Amino acid sequence: SAFDTVIHGGTIATATDTWKGDIGIRGGRIAALAERIDGGATRIDASGRLVLPGGIEAHCHIAQESSSGVMSADDYYSGSVSAAFGGNSSFVPFAAQHRGQSVDDVIATYDDRAAPNSVLDYSYHLIISDPTPKVLTEELPRAFARGITSFKVFMTYDLMNLGDGGMLNILTVAKAHGALTMVHAENNDMVKWMNRRLAEAGLTEPKYHAISRPALAEEEAIHRAVSLAKLVDAPLFIVHVSTPEGAEIVQRERLRGTKLFAETCPQYLALTREDLDRPGMEGAKFICSPPVRDAEGQAVLWRHIQAGTFASVSSDHAPYRFDETGKFLNGRDAPYPKISNGMPGIGMRLPYLFSEGVVKGRITLQQFVGLSSTNAAKTFGMDTKGSIAPGMDADIAIWNPEETRTATLADQHDNMDYTPFEGMEITGWPQTVLSRGEIVIENRELKAGRGRGRFVARKPVSLTGMPGYTAPELDPARNFGAKVAP
Ligand code: URP
Ligand code: ZN
Ligand code: ZN
Ligand code: ZN
Repeated sequence: SAFDTVIHGGTIATATDTWKGDIGIRGGRIAALAERIDGGATRIDASGRLVLPGGIEAHCHIAQESSSGVMSADDYYSGSVSAAFGGNSSFVPFAAQHRGQSVDDVIATYDDRAAPNSVLDYSYHLIISDPTPKVLTEELPRAFARGITSFKVFMTYDLMNLGDGGMLNILTVAKAHGALTMVHAENNDMVKWMNRRLAEAGLTEPKYHAISRPALAEEEAIHRAVSLAKLVDAPLFIVHVSTPEGAEIVQRERLRGTKLFAETCPQYLALTREDLDRPGMEGAKFICSPPVRDAEGQAVLWRHIQAGTFASVSSDHAPYRFDETGKFLNGRDAPYPKISNGMPGIGMRLPYLFSEGVVKGRITLQQFVGLSSTNAAKTFGMDTKGSIAPGMDADIAIWNPEETRTATLADQHDNMDYTPFEGMEITGWPQTVLSRGEIVIENRELKAGRGRGRFVARKPVSLTGMPGYTAPELDPARNFGAKVAP
């Protein structure tokens, strides 16, 4: 037969179009699109189903130690399996440099963690916490050359944050190579000041996490991060925007042509600080940074999703179990600053966004495909993924748009002992997922083997249509000819 696999009878959708037709797959790639394709060694009946580009999870913490040394509960096997059940066919976790570590060693460590285990294709964003001269001049360029084209930095956490000068250095190196700097934007000193005040008042239960990280800390840091990036005219990606004020800065700057991208996450749409106030220590399940906020803010974030402020909606899957290996590494009744930050959600990102977005009429199916897959492919340089077109990788998720189920832990197939989405009624679930033409999930059963995923060398970010900004002080025509621009 001309095709290894034919997906027939489905409704295919991309970020631009929806049509009824068949897909012919050969050698792991999409070989033909037509109204009808006969044959195929394997035929997948997609009648009554949506056939979408497989999701690309662009923000998740897999087999990663946090800055306080806690290993995430998911490794590249369980993390990729959970992602696949959630409709993804590739993901881009972080490879985290902690202070004193060489970036070359970090990448080698993550290769050892990922290659033997991942069922999905993967790449990494580097996390840089120690930008030594060697890192800046040798290791980052080497990482870039092997297709790691995004570097994440932190403005918060004592052991991770770089300071403004460190950020300018990373932004400058990233710009020189066409890499994209990602940033966790929260003002570290504002958070520490709040922590101290709350501790002095004896207010240490999980719910106080919500107020310990004020919306202003995010707004201030996003504004500062954007200013730093503009000074050197480097592209910037703001991760996990949780506030209307933050989203507003992103929207305003994008309108001005600033080279700026951003994401938000389902938890900022689904959960509020009331969840942090659940009885006992239950609230610890909902501790993540930035914190979940309130219903008014959620409505504004949805407006920004609708208006195109965000490139993607990512999970920020940061799985720490509700036990002494995870959330309670510092004890069952640890004060909130000593409870591990992060929540799982790699398996729920797309079902939640589909159900609350597409089914409830907030976004179109095309927007869903863009936010779940296509935009991440473009932003992070995965040019064979993120759409359905001849020549592209056959990374495809087949959804039942009408199936309604309550979210449960068992459905996540991760290594966690809770899901923050427990009990939510979700309409629309992925059923079958292909990665490079191979069936990874079929009718909600795992079919693929450990280690089949491949590293994806990524391209530089495309900045077409983003004119950027030239600070007058760095413009030789206006700064007495001083050659100080990066
Ligand atoms: O609380 C979170 N989000 N933990 C994961 C690390 C990060 O800040 O993205
Ligand atoms: Zn057919
Ligand atoms: Zn973060
Ligand atoms: Zn994160």
